[in-house]
Amino acid sequence: MKKVRTVEWKNGRVVMLDQRLLPNREVYRIYKDPKDVIAAIRDLVVRGAPAIGVSAAMGLALGAQKLPKDRFAKEFEKLCRAFAAARPTAVNLFWAIERMRRLVEANGQLSVETLRKMLEAEAIAIYREDLDANRRLSEFGAELLPSKGTVLTHCNAGGLATAGIGTALGVILAARDAGKKLSVFADETRPVLQGARLTAWELKKARAPVTVITDNMAGHFMQQGMIDAVVVGTDRTAANGDVANKIGTYAVAVLAARHGIPFYVAAPTTSIDLNCPDGSKIPIEERAADEVSHFHGKPSTPKGVKVANPAFDVTPAKLVTAIITENGVAKGGYKRNLAKLVRASGPVAPAAPRKRTKAR
Ligand code: MRU
Repeated sequence: MKKVRTVEWKNGRVVMLDQRLLPNREVYRIYKDPKDVIAAIRDLVVRGAPAIGVSAAMGLALGAQKLPKDRFAKEFEKLCRAFAAARPTAVNLFWAIERMRRLVEANGQLSVETLRKMLEAEAIAIYREDLDANRRLSEFGAELLPSKGTVLTHCNAGGLATAGIGTALGVILAARDAGKKLSVFADETRPVLQGARLTAWELKKARAPVTVITDNMAGHFMQQGMIDAVVVGTDRTAANGDVANKIGTYAVAVLAARHGIPFYVAAPTTSIDLNCPDGSKIPIEERAADEVSHFHGKPSTPKGVKVANPAFDVTPAKLVTAIITENGVAKGGYKRNLAKLVRASGPVAPAAPRKRTKAR
């Protein structure tokens, strides 16, 4: 399986594939200012929970290079807060920031030069760990899928959303590598089209058979007996197993339950928030109205009409057949089982913002 180069640390710079331009153009952006990395996260140059976490860690390492030595800790804290305001839902962002912040706090006695090197090494470690988690999670998940059939996915939880081979797409591709005869239905995922633009692009590159459908077709194909399993990613899974993921995921989960189709969530432990008791406490990002009111830059609604644009929804744990992590699979009993799986990775991520937030 060949990995997509989504976000990388290269010669003291952050390099990202500009996902806004896919599938038409493959353009890499080189960032040397942390403010531009924050803007890249906010504006979806990079997106997908794990990739956002990795980008923030790299952005902080970048920022640390330029912060004044005499006010380093204070300025670093300011930068952490600026990154935390980029997007509210994906907990990987807060997890990565906290890991970088703790490194500075725990090593305040060291020289700024040493701290800068340590922050760079930490960001690279976060990148490598995500890559490894993708691989392990994919192997666990591959075993759950049938030996042949069609898997539906929503949004993009592939290499473009991570540092590695992806989570939901990693599971599907690992199953195919293991000889399972699987094809994919990709929901187009209105309004930003992560499924039509990104998932289809990745699967085509991986030579995996993919059919793009509009979001409102999923029920029809399930009713026709054409979908054998659903696998999606997550931006934040609460301690009780409630799953926040791209808007529309909840509807897919309800349909899957109605048709007796297993609904799997591929969730690296960095996307599980044990400090968040249930889905009602997950902040749901409300994005700019023009994502809905415009299509390809042209208005698709009457001028001035009201638009709602929540970027995520919450699927209740009871609709989730299994949650697949890099440390193993939880099939129900989520409160106890997720805690065990997350703790197998080390210290718990800190609490993240709780209120509903506008990104722009
Ligand atoms: O708004 P996005 O594109 O960042 O939303 C991404 C998703 O909802 C993904 O499904 C989720 O982050 C999991 S990615 C492995």
